[in-house]
Amino acid sequence: MNPALRVKGLRKMFGGLVAVDDVSFDVQEGEFVGLIGPNGCGKSTTFNCISGLLEKTAGTVEVFGKDVTDMRPDQIQKFGLTRTFQHTRLWREMTVIENDLVPPRNQFGKSFLDRMRALLLPWWNPNEEERLERAYSTLDQLEVPHMAHNLTSELSGGQSKLVDIGRSMMGVPKLLLLDEPVAGVAGPLAMKIFNNLRKMVDETGISVLIIEHNMDFILRQGVDRIVVMNEGEVLMQGTPDQVKGNRAVIEAYLGAAGEEREEEE
Ligand SMILES: Nc1ncnc2c1ncn2[C@@H]1O[C@H](COP(=O)(O)OP(=O)(O)O)[C@@H](O)[C@H]1O
Ligand SMILES: [Mg+2]
Repeated sequence: MNPALRVKGLRKMFGGLVAVDDVSFDVQEGEFVGLIGPNGCGKSTTFNCISGLLEKTAGTVEVFGKDVTDMRPDQIQKFGLTRTFQHTRLWREMTVIENDLVPPRNQFGKSFLDRMRALLLPWWNPNEEERLERAYSTLDQLEVPHMAHNLTSELSGGQSKLVDIGRSMMGVPKLLLLDEPVAGVAGPLAMKIFNNLRKMVDETGISVLIIEHNMDFILRQGVDRIVVMNEGEVLMQGTPDQVKGNRAVIEAYLGAAGEEREEEE
């Protein structure tokens, strides 16, 4: 069986800077995988290359066995890939529920029957009620149903993240890429969101690749596997137990923490 995602020899240069350097990893169908690594190690750039936003310098990307290396984001989405961004992109003049009702592009295949109905009965939208219900239940799951009718411009950074996750789940993705979805979200709720994602993976068989900056946190969230990046490369991949206590991983994180402290001084 083809993996949900296969990244092979991915390389991305920005001018002379090698942001992603020969990165290879798979995400199997029904697998929940974490992508971690110090700030600036190339995690978001890897997502941008996978989802077709950035042209790759080298390497290939396959989604459910389809080579999508040179495809545009909207073409790749058709194969079931949905992603969120590290910096959320919401419509600030719209309410939370309105934001979650805007489908990520090309995610709703219309059946022949639905198309005929739309043609004959233009006022009748059979999906609308169901989608509204889904949107509300997603907000319930994320524990923010009370915010449904707030303008997103009134939300905190963490709350915006939740609306964004909700939106990405509306399109029934088969492969979901989440870029630091719980950054700025309070600890207990962040854990619940991971729990819910785990449940969603187990119940629906979708595949999730999630970027998380906090290593201690992700080690305790029940992901199946973790890919650790450092300075553009894959440092190691394995189960949380294998990653925990790995010397190279600890050193990469300590080194990065040291550099961040120096920058602050
Ligand atoms: N559009 C861009 N142009 C130039 N450099 C970039 C761009 N995007 C990211 N970079 C650089 O690439 C490296 C990796 O960045 P990024 O993928 O955002 O890291 P991470 O998500 O792991 O924090 C960093 O050095 C960053 O400054
Ligand atoms: Mg990033």
